[in-house]
Amino acid sequence: MCGIIGFAGKTEAVEVLLDGLERLEYRGYDSAGVAVVSTDGKLQVKKSKGRLSVLRTLLEAEEPMSGGIGIGHTRWATHGEPNDVNAHPHVGQEGKIAVVHNGIIENYLEIKNSLIRKGIRFSSDTDTEVIVQLLEYYYKKYSNLMDAVYAVLNRIKGAYAMGILCSDYPEQMLAARKDAPLLIGYGEEGNYIASDVTALLSHTRTVTYMEDDEVAVITAGKVEIYDSDRTLLEKEKHAIEWDVTAAEKGGYAHFMLKEIMEQPEAVRKTISPRIVDGKIVLEELKGTGDFIRNVSRIYIVACGSAYHVGMVGKYTLEKLLHIPVEACLASEFRYSEPLLGESTLVIVISQSGETLDSLAALREAKRRGSKVLSIVNVMGSSIARESDYVLYTWAGPEIAVATTKAYTTQMVLLIMLGVYLARELEQIGQEEYDAIVEGLLRLPEQIKQVLNELDNYQKIASRYFNHNSVFYIGRNLDYALGLEGSLKLKEISYIHSESYAAGELKHGTISLIEPGTLVVALATYAPLVEKSLSNIVEVKSRGAEVIALTTDKTVNTISSQTSEMFVIPEVQAILQPVLGVIPLQLFAYYIALNRGCDIDKPRNLAKSVTVE
Ligand code: AGP
Repeated sequence: MCGIIGFAGKTEAVEVLLDGLERLEYRGYDSAGVAVVSTDGKLQVKKSKGRLSVLRTLLEAEEPMSGGIGIGHTRWATHGEPNDVNAHPHVGQEGKIAVVHNGIIENYLEIKNSLIRKGIRFSSDTDTEVIVQLLEYYYKKYSNLMDAVYAVLNRIKGAYAMGILCSDYPEQMLAARKDAPLLIGYGEEGNYIASDVTALLSHTRTVTYMEDDEVAVITAGKVEIYDSDRTLLEKEKHAIEWDVTAAEKGGYAHFMLKEIMEQPEAVRKTISPRIVDGKIVLEELKGTGDFIRNVSRIYIVACGSAYHVGMVGKYTLEKLLHIPVEACLASEFRYSEPLLGESTLVIVISQSGETLDSLAALREAKRRGSKVLSIVNVMGSSIARESDYVLYTWAGPEIAVATTKAYTTQMVLLIMLGVYLARELEQIGQEEYDAIVEGLLRLPEQIKQVLNELDNYQKIASRYFNHNSVFYIGRNLDYALGLEGSLKLKEISYIHSESYAAGELKHGTISLIEPGTLVVALATYAPLVEKSLSNIVEVKSRGAEVIALTTDKTVNTISSQTSEMFVIPEVQAILQPVLGVIPLQLFAYYIALNRGCDIDKPRNLAKSVTVE
């Protein structure tokens, strides 16, 4: 969704801003803009609808912007269509103050109407413009920028991360946050603000996370952060481990392909530090034995692909722990009546750690007395900070909108958690435990093996990319996996696709199967392969074309029905989806490539969904 970058430094700000915005492009946007204040207090603003290249062309055509203090923004439209006027930064009618903002101001209409009654003219349809017009209004009243900022923060309701420039303060920028991520970077050339750490990696890896209701005053040489009472705070600085190359394409055509190919390493980094002397060690859960023994129910709450990991977890954890485990969509969970309480564990899964629905579900769970354990990729993100326990996936930055390495690392970590809990609860025998641990350690090499079959995925995709509807079917863990395969395909290739529990087909969906319909049949879950075969026969006999995903142990059974196959090594049933997802990711990738789609930035989608 929207992205913010800001710079207060000794060098020209505009290039730093454009570089930061480029690194934020992956979040999804439809317009972009920058504002720079010169040393003599001239506020310069340029913004435009469309990609950053349009903004660059605009900037090149005019006199260069000069000044070391600036803010930039990529906007993903919520209030008001994507156009030049609605793009950020927004400037007040006096032309003194500029603001970039992520989030939504819920009471913007009420404020807008009251300002209009005072004679203030609005030019955009955005909620953000009320911030800047209100700021100018209070600035005129108090003649002090900080007073005006606090007055605005007291008046607005909703979520915000914002960067503020004022032409009367040409040596500083201000920043504020509530319920939307914002961090401060400390660099040699100056100091930064950003909504996302990837925008800062080429400048600094030393950051501070702003908390709700904090306000920061940032100059080239100093950062001061205040709380809601205007008390100066001593904030901790954090070192980011990701390096800049991790957020670059490194010779790959797309970030998505690069991230798919990084999975052996991402999975290894997530697993191996957590296996010590043949035992799964989750340091993060040290001292939680009493609590764990009391857990009587687990909810796994997440959105999109992370929810699909939750579906895998539902089958796996329930089987391992013998307690009820439910996978819930975060957007539904928060408005339903989940059975929360002290003996319920809520597991929240999120790559970004900023997904609003997941964060809201987490807060609801905590409010109602449950402990929250999160599986998160981005360090210091809101979900990580607000959880009782955090397990980090060590996937590194994920730039492509379609998640791949975050999904696999979330899945291995959830499986590891399940096995760890099973041991704590004495629900797993030593032999089974040892076999799973050995299996986990073998996964990175086996993922490499699956990745070696690129030619096959490419060849099969080139035969089917013209289909306009695809069904994924599978049972048990294969059903959970099919959900992800289907989502991958639709989000990047725009092909309509559905995923069904294979046994459900006969209850309605089979009416859609006709000669030529493409069905991706998942048959990797060993205990149910025979049943999956029957489902393949059912759809084939109605004319479907079938691509099967199966293992080297069951390939002969399945090959009696189709010759189009993705074959992966057979491993323990609970680890099988980790390998199974790889061909599905690559199938979707090559289909989208054949269709000429914008793979890394699919239409209408944003990497991190920070609005409801
Ligand atoms: C999947 O490819 C998507 N980009 C999307 O479904 C994503 O998994 C979902 O929005 C959740 O995001 P999160 O993991 O950052 O919370």
